[in-house]
Amino acid sequence: MIQEKLNQLMNDVTKDLKIDNNSVILSNRPDLCDYQWDGCFKLAKILKQNPIEIGNNIVSKIKKHPNYLSLLEKVEVVNGFINLTLSNEAINTYLTKMQTEDKFGMPPIEKPNLYILDYGGPNIAKPLHVGHLRPAIIGESIKRILNFRGHKTISDVHLGDYGLQIGQVIYGLLEENKKIEDINLEILEELYPKISKLCKENEDILKKCSIITKELQDGNPLYQTYFKKIKEISLNDIKRIYKDLDVSFDLWNGESDAYKDIPKLKEILKPYSKLSEGATIIPVKKDDDKKEMPPLILENSVGAYLYATTDLATILKREELKPDYILYVVDARQSLHFEQVFRVAYLSNLTKAKLEHIGFGTMNGKDGKPFKTRNGDMLKLDDLISKTKKTFLSLKEDNDKMDEDDINKIVDSIIKYADLQNNREKDYIFDLEKFSSVLGKTGPYILYTYLRIQKILDKENNTFNLTDKIYNEQDRNLRLELLKFTEVIDKASKTRMPSYIADYLYQICVCLNTFYQNNHIDGLEDKIKKQDWLSVLLLANNLVKQLLNLLVIKVPKKM
Ligand code: ARG
Repeated sequence: MIQEKLNQLMNDVTKDLKIDNNSVILSNRPDLCDYQWDGCFKLAKILKQNPIEIGNNIVSKIKKHPNYLSLLEKVEVVNGFINLTLSNEAINTYLTKMQTEDKFGMPPIEKPNLYILDYGGPNIAKPLHVGHLRPAIIGESIKRILNFRGHKTISDVHLGDYGLQIGQVIYGLLEENKKIEDINLEILEELYPKISKLCKENEDILKKCSIITKELQDGNPLYQTYFKKIKEISLNDIKRIYKDLDVSFDLWNGESDAYKDIPKLKEILKPYSKLSEGATIIPVKKDDDKKEMPPLILENSVGAYLYATTDLATILKREELKPDYILYVVDARQSLHFEQVFRVAYLSNLTKAKLEHIGFGTMNGKDGKPFKTRNGDMLKLDDLISKTKKTFLSLKEDNDKMDEDDINKIVDSIIKYADLQNNREKDYIFDLEKFSSVLGKTGPYILYTYLRIQKILDKENNTFNLTDKIYNEQDRNLRLELLKFTEVIDKASKTRMPSYIADYLYQICVCLNTFYQNNHIDGLEDKIKKQDWLSVLLLANNLVKQLLNLLVIKVPKKM
């Protein structure tokens, strides 16, 4: 908000100088100023003049600008940079705007877009494991950020519900003479790893399972009945876990729903398709490709459709919703798959939407390897949650005396904040002890800070009323930090990076704690000062709560 205002001012005073796209940025030297403008160097090249001279010239124009006095306390040229220091009046005016305006003064978006978000993507009949955590919470967070920024979103879980694993489970059920009524979650959880192992050892069984899968896809009534029951049971469990994680979807479509559109898809793709060794493929290689780019396989030699086929058919189906973007929040290791799918989609004008793969790395254990159980299986999501809970409870004697619901919220914050604070593209190490601590860049630290401030606010009446005073450095730093809110949201939204929100939350909390430790509000006699500080804390905590919500984290009552 305030940065926008500074940009306007800079544009006004430089508009005859033919320099665009040079914005005010946060200061690299917070000891000298709050914001800086680096355009003098560019201008120096264009105008063949000395940057300092240009700077002085601009500064004298700034000083004549009608907004100068209300906005800035100081403006100067230092080594060719224009350093801008905000006035107390401006800081407090904008903080008041934030408190009183909708969405803390987030400016409405010029052109809201419709985003379809494809995240979650669990495969039914397999229990949810730690590998399903990242797509769920990164996707949910990006959805919330885009919505808050003012876009429209439709979320779709895109279940893996028509692949080989279903054929394998049906094969196992039939082998063990299980009837439809017998099927339950325990049986499924036991069966899938068993048959999947068998398939790796025995090609005949693998083949049988593939045939079952293919016949299921072609509509075999017996297999369809089994499939429906398996899906129902599995989905109940998946929905329970997502609900616990506070992750929600507008659409619960799956690969199976895309099958109806495959004939139409094949028609559209005909001009680009080729037969190769019995399979139907679409070449996607471009001349300037630096990496290997194999063709996309639309139909394999036994006539089965593959992962890419259903993704393309899903794009076709999603076109009915007229999205501007489709975002796939999926493991970075699938980047080749998406590259192939996107190329075919663009080549054949399947969609007008822009397609983006929002890739992420893996969550690793302390040994740097993907989180696994002792026998090498992926750790179940339920087990990760109970393990985290145990660690948190063991850290402090009286943790177990806390309210159950509060403990669950803290445990949830440990897992989510550990994850979302990373640049999503990178792998990260989930160090349970570290992320369970109330010290450091952790979920509990943020929640603890929030509650500590809330305690002060609860004691007083929560009204907001700011004068134009600022009392000391920690006070000013805190206020300046709060002013960055709208820009941070905008950046997180454009880059689809929840980590910007997580970093910012941490920064606010550091400022809050520094302020808290150095300034005692409790016994303060100066009523105006007290009201000013309470107002700043009120706004800060409102922002913290909102930012936590964007990271899918809820606040406990007490800790
Ligand atoms: N089910 C897939 C998997 O487990 C993820 C689905 C991602 N979404 C998509 N449209 N391909 O790898």
